[in-house]
Amino acid sequence: MDKILVTGGLGFIGSHTVVELQKEGYEVVIIDDLSNSSISVLDGILSISGKKPLFEKLDLKDKVGVEAFFAKHSDIKGVIHFAASKAVGESVKEPLLYYENNISTLVYILKELKKLPEASFIFSSSCTVYGQADELPITENAPVKQAESPYGNTKQIGEEIISDTCKVTPSLKAIALRYFNPVGAHASVNIGELPIGVPQNLVPFITQTAIGLREELSVFGDDYPTSDGTCIRDYIHVVDLANAHVVALGRLLNNKNKANYETFNLGTGTGSTVLEVVKSFEKVSGKKLNYKIVGRREGDIISAYADTTKANDELGWKTKLSLDDAMSSAWNWEQKVRGNK
Ligand code: WQD
Repeated sequence: MDKILVTGGLGFIGSHTVVELQKEGYEVVIIDDLSNSSISVLDGILSISGKKPLFEKLDLKDKVGVEAFFAKHSDIKGVIHFAASKAVGESVKEPLLYYENNISTLVYILKELKKLPEASFIFSSSCTVYGQADELPITENAPVKQAESPYGNTKQIGEEIISDTCKVTPSLKAIALRYFNPVGAHASVNIGELPIGVPQNLVPFITQTAIGLREELSVFGDDYPTSDGTCIRDYIHVVDLANAHVVALGRLLNNKNKANYETFNLGTGTGSTVLEVVKSFEKVSGKKLNYKIVGRREGDIISAYADTTKANDELGWKTKLSLDDAMSSAWNWEQKVRGNK
């Protein structure tokens, strides 16, 4: 079976994707620098799939190390590239760190893929490329807006780098997957999200509050023009998201792609308000969540949810899991991580 490199394969979305790839029979090699992940995730993967993936600790900024890796694994057929820095706030303070971490590494990998007779490449992009879209739900044709942060800019630039490279490299096929808001954990709760420090994202903040690690959730603004005044996002279960990567990779490996560079939105198609997410959590956990409404968070858009038509029709992929499934698995995972389960 084809050998696939997963960079950042010990991270949140990466680890779930490794499990789904293994399920389909792919041989997986992970590169991770462990800067925002733990080596114990390998055991989590093993306990689910029964297969330990090959693992190389490597910082992808090490160009020579990347060349040596590809020389050693010259039979790699595809790469799913998750490895990147992803904290929006940090990127504003440390732009060069983000441009170096997210852009130079992408260039080094593409340079290696160019040398192969044939290569398939899947890139982790983001719905942040759309900013506050003028029309909802958001299709892949919505204009890419001026990035709000260096992080967002690295995703836009990353897409352009891949598109430019594909134009002059017939042997390279690529798909950029634009994620909406990935949440939840594997049903086994052997892998999940492990945020370092105080979580910036809603769902880990909710579960950490419920477990007693945080005093209360601050809901950022209830005066937006939405049903209950709180912002709307498209929360997608990480296992559904992981599956989309396997489907996208299969599309490229089997030459089912319509162009050698394509983009797809990955969301559920349904928007949920912050308070609806809180309600879902309370329902599945049976716990009352301590929260208060505070002022708006700078940079938040009002509403974003995906038009999933292209992903459904072209990729032949659909989400199977609900927001309740995601909240329930996120809660089970939090309890397991804190030793309460
Ligand atoms: C969700 C909603 C907050 C925390 C993230 C990434 C972004 C992109 C998409 C990757 C918002 C509200 C949050 C809290 C709250 N991902 N909230 N209290 O802002 O949609 O963006 O996903 O590329 O880069 O940052 O996700 O989880 O931070 O917020 O009220 O303590 O929850 O205002 O409406 P966001 P989020």
